[in-house]
Amino acid sequence: MIIAVDGPTASGKGTIAKAIAAHFGLPHLDTGLLYRAVGRQVHINGGDPDNADDALAATRFPDELLTDDILRSEETGGLASRVSIHPSVRQALFERQRAFAEQAGGAVLDGRDIGTVIAPEADVKLFITASVEARAMRRWLEMTGREIDIPLMEIEQDIVARDQRDITRKDAPLKAAPDAVVIDTTKLDKEQAIAAAIAAVEERR
Ligand code: C5P
Repeated sequence: MIIAVDGPTASGKGTIAKAIAAHFGLPHLDTGLLYRAVGRQVHINGGDPDNADDALAATRFPDELLTDDILRSEETGGLASRVSIHPSVRQALFERQRAFAEQAGGAVLDGRDIGTVIAPEADVKLFITASVEARAMRRWLEMTGREIDIPLMEIEQDIVARDQRDITRKDAPLKAAPDAVVIDTTKLDKEQAIAAAIAAVEERR
């Protein structure tokens, strides 16, 4: 069983994907982490994330980079969204994601284009969304919890900019697959969102 979980940043898709994977006993891949690693590696290389050659060179990041906490920062998220525009970067990360999706027994993948490009044959596709305000507030609470002091407005502006780039890019833009179940988590707490997602999977698998 392949389960695709797509949606914008801070929609709750990562939390939901992790919970679904645990519930159904499936391995989970956070594909955003791969793009974050490329963004971080461009920075380490002193390259330009908007330059396709620099971004492609950064796809040869060392595996250890995936466990670095700095990948979770807003700054790296911004770099990830810039390198992810380049088709050559998306192509370079494609096989790795396909191999994960095709492993025996199934898998849960979360990202932006899992249900549309990486695994269009997925058995269940979820599209997780929430208002910009709700997503900014969640990210702000998370940051504050990690004692990172950043104004809510700044987070909101960053989310809007990231959405804009992810939705308007030519290659694999962020959008719900026609056969995806859309779950709006704006008014749901974590447990309710997870329960809604598990119910949607049960119904369709
Ligand atoms: O999900 P996360 O916020 O970690 O993703 C960081 C960035 O990586 C996104 O803003 C998006 O531009 C890019 N991304 C992508 N395709 C994916 C996952 C992430 O383009 N499947």
